[in-house]
Amino acid sequence: MIEVKNIVKSFDQLQVLKGVSVTITPGEIVSIVGPSGAGKTTLLQIIGTLDKPDRGTVDFGGINPLKLNSAGLARFRNDNIGFVFQFHRLLPEFSLEENVALPALIAGVGRKAAFEKARQLIKYLGLESRASHRPSELSGGERQRTAVARALVREPKVILADEPSGSLDSKNRAELHRLFFDLREDIGQTFVIVTHDEHLAADTDRCIVLNDGLITEIIQKGK
Ligand SMILES: Nc1ncnc2c1ncn2[C@@H]1O[C@H](COP(=O)(O)OP(=O)(O)OP(=O)(O)O)[C@@H](O)[C@H]1O
Ligand SMILES: [Mg+2]
Repeated sequence: MIEVKNIVKSFDQLQVLKGVSVTITPGEIVSIVGPSGAGKTTLLQIIGTLDKPDRGTVDFGGINPLKLNSAGLARFRNDNIGFVFQFHRLLPEFSLEENVALPALIAGVGRKAAFEKARQLIKYLGLESRASHRPSELSGGERQRTAVARALVREPKVILADEPSGSLDSKNRAELHRLFFDLREDIGQTFVIVTHDEHLAADTDRCIVLNDGLITEIIQKGK
């Protein structure tokens, strides 16, 4: 269970989050929608411990990441949270397989185990024939799927995605969205996804609507 409560966050004079609370239960796919500037990325970064709130609490399965020092926090993040961004952020000098294995190698998982896990994920994604290619040789859809594999390699409690399909065409977008639901089905993966895609938002279990730093609506699927 991941719970943020009464999150307040300002940048200089601008209050971007004005008291936001969200609870995410394991296996859920939650979307966050709202107009540009509403605070969606800021909220996701706080849930993901990449940024700290001015006020409010963050609880990650009983752990308060706000109390960790920077090394402890980096470790905690690598162990528990996978990130997918709008642009893949794969390392250009490394192969697809190396990119996927990297978070595991950084965590000190042995080379053999890290690459085995990477290969297993690449197979799941149907990208085996591309495993030794560099990101520049992959299509946009393949790059985003690789970014998802990289996010999965540590078996995180949650994947946080910020407009993951924002730079894809409609076919690749649909494929990426299907992958999220397949992963939930197959391994119970939990997701929090910031999106401008109405179809994706409508398919998620819960859609949180953020406006001007406040939750203005929560839409449960099928209600
Ligand atoms: N590091 C920062 N320093 C100063 N202002 C910031 C910073 N990060 C975000 N902001 C401001 O906070 C507000 C909310 O930003 P945020 O990125 O959370 O919006 P968003 O809902 O993700 O928007 P978009 O849909 O355009 O990505 C914006 O007005 C933005 O300019
Ligand atoms: Mg944003």
